[in-house]
Parts: sequence; structure tokens; C-alpha cells
Amino acid sequence: MAQTLTLLPGDGIGPEVTSATVRVLEAVGCDFEWESYVVGAEAVEQNMEPLPDRVLESIRRNKVCLKGPVTTPIGKGFRSINVLLRQELQLYANLRPARSIPGIDHKFKDVDLVIVRENTEGLYSGLEHQVVPGVVESLKIISEKASTRIAKFAFDYAEKNGRKRVTAVHKANIMKLSDGLFLDCFREVSKDHPSIEADDRIIDNMCMQLVMYPERYDMLLLENLYGDIVSDLAAGLVGGLGVVAGANIGDHEAVFEAVHGSAPDIAGRGVANPMALMRSAILMLRHLNLRDEADRLAKALSTVVVDQEIRTRDLGGTVGTSEFTEAVVRAIETGD
Ligand code: NAI
Repeated sequence: MAQTLTLLPGDGIGPEVTSATVRVLEAVGCDFEWESYVVGAEAVEQNMEPLPDRVLESIRRNKVCLKGPVTTPIGKGFRSINVLLRQELQLYANLRPARSIPGIDHKFKDVDLVIVRENTEGLYSGLEHQVVPGVVESLKIISEKASTRIAKFAFDYAEKNGRKRVTAVHKANIMKLSDGLFLDCFREVSKDHPSIEADDRIIDNMCMQLVMYPERYDMLLLENLYGDIVSDLAAGLVGGLGVVAGANIGDHEAVFEAVHGSAPDIAGRGVANPMALMRSAILMLRHLNLRDEADRLAKALSTVVVDQEIRTRDLGGTVGTSEFTEAVVRAIETGD
């Protein structure tokens, strides 16, 4: 029987990369029925809320959502749909694996990082106000509950996935209370996981370490803003935003989306790399326990990108979104 999932194609390059991903999921034999919704500026144009209630209801009902990027207006307009979704559904863990792809020309060959970002609080709590004209305040919220929950997620993930070490990243030397609490919770949770090495780095040092010796690190645990920034940095170490997958996971629902945004500079031109969303779909398939389908899609992507050297322009290749997608479908069909 077909399984119903929620689909948010998003905007910008979103519809291009989501339809490419739905196409390869069909090719791999997934029997999904999609409940598809518009959100963000497109929903507002149709006189709806940017994040209509029925979207949240659909995700709560189906438990799993595949999502394209959604543009957030800068400095004005509605709040980020991406942040709202994560907060409303308490998708507290943002998982972003960044691994070198053989044959892709970048500075490092042995990067294998898993970034775990706290997704619901920090400076993304949306608590900003003007104190007096010319002075504004943004509140950074760090709670023991959310910090403990995300630390547990990171150590559990490490144990289940054969990772050896979790490094907490913070600025507790300056933000002694907020980042200090985040670090204390990490250290407390680490005591229950003696088989996993636990250490920490100050965020500025971590950034330098990552651009010099990324292969020395295994899993990183960060609060919201640091996690957002460092995961783009990590994407840059392994081929850019066109390849890095992501998952937002809560206790009940999960939303799978690439790390990249709506890329307005290339939207509508048929050149976006759909690989990041396809790899997010692989995380989704594993979450749904569809291991065979996940393995076949991963193998086909590797065949196309590594063996056949068929790549989109962001990876130095020449093909567009649909040509790349058809190559992946062919590789799935031939079992290559
Ligand atoms: P972006 O990730 O959209 O683009 C940054 C650069 O990477 C651009 O040069 C773009 O062309 C390139 N790029 C991104 N994805 C690519 C792909 N799949 N293939 C080839 N090249 C790709 O970041 P930007 O420009 O800062 O954000 C644009 C909008 O997206 C903003 O409104 C932002 O708020 C939103 N955004 C949404 C996210 C989400 O829905 N989860 C995440 C990040 C940003």
C-alpha cells in the first residue's frame, strides 16, 4: 500500500530539485503518495498564512516530510518558515553529514563529519525588540532541557552509527551563562556514554581547525547559530552546498531537506544540483527503514558522479538538473 508523505517543494530552485528527487524515488521503487503544499511567499500570494495550519497537520499526520528550500525575506516580512517548522514541530535535532566524495576536486580528501545542530532555540528564538531608537536587543535562549535533549541525540547517534567522538562547540569563555549551560549539559550527558570520546572547542578555534585539519574531527555538536554557520563551512569542505544533505528530527516527526537555500541566482535555469536533496532523501529512506531503496539510490548517485563523472556545474561538470536526474534513473534501472 502506498505510504503518504508530505511534500513542500519550496521556491527558487526548490521545485526543480524536489521534482528531480521525487523522480529518483519512483525509479528506486518507492510507493509514496505525496501531499504537496505551497508555503512562504507563494502561500502569501494566494492569501494564506506563510505556514498554513494544514501543512503542520499534514506533517503531524504523515510523520515524514520532504522539503525544498524556502526564501526568507531579509530584515522585514514573515519569519523564516524553516525556523517556524522546526520550532512548531519541535524538530530539535538538525543532522548534517559532510563527507568527501571521491573524485570531486576539493582541498580535502578524508572529511567525514557529522554535524548536529540544536534546532529550536539560541538566537533563532525570534525574540528581538527595539529598546530605544537605534538600539535593538536579540535574546539568545539556552535551556537545560533543550541542551540535554540535543546532547543525548548526538551521543545516541554516535553509538548507533559507529562514531567515536563528539566535540561540543561553544563560546562559553564569553557567554558564560548561555554557552556555559550548553557545555555543562553536554558534559553531564557524556558521562552516560563512556564509549564515546567527548571534548570541546571554542567556536573561533573550531572554524580555524576545520579549514586546516577537518579530517581530525568526527561529530560536532553546536547550538543553533553556530550550527547553521559551521554546516555551510563544512559543505564548502566537501564540494559545496549542492551536495550536503540534512534532516530535522523530533520525537514524532522528521523533515528532510538539503542544507542549501533557494539559490535565487540560479533559480529557473535548470542548472541546480539536485544531489543534496537526493542525499537528504536517502536519509529519509533510512529513517523509514527502507534500507534497500536507500542503498540503491546511494549506489546510483555514486556511479553517476564518481564513476561516470556526470556532474552539474557547481561540481565542475556540464549537465543540468534534468540530465543529471536521468543519469541517476538510468543507473538505478541498470543496477550500476
Ligand atoms: P543559498 O544556499 O540559496 O545559495 C548560496 C550559493 O550556493 C548560491 O550561489 C547558489 O547558487 C549556490 N547553491 C545553493 N544550492 C545549490 C544547488 N543545489 N546547486 C548549485 N548551486 C547551489 O543561500 P542564500 O543565497 O544565502 O539564500 C537564499 C535564500 O534561501 C534566502 O532567502 C535564505 O533565507 C533561504 N534559505 C533557506 C533554507 C531552507 O529552506 N532550509 C536554508 C538556507 C537558506
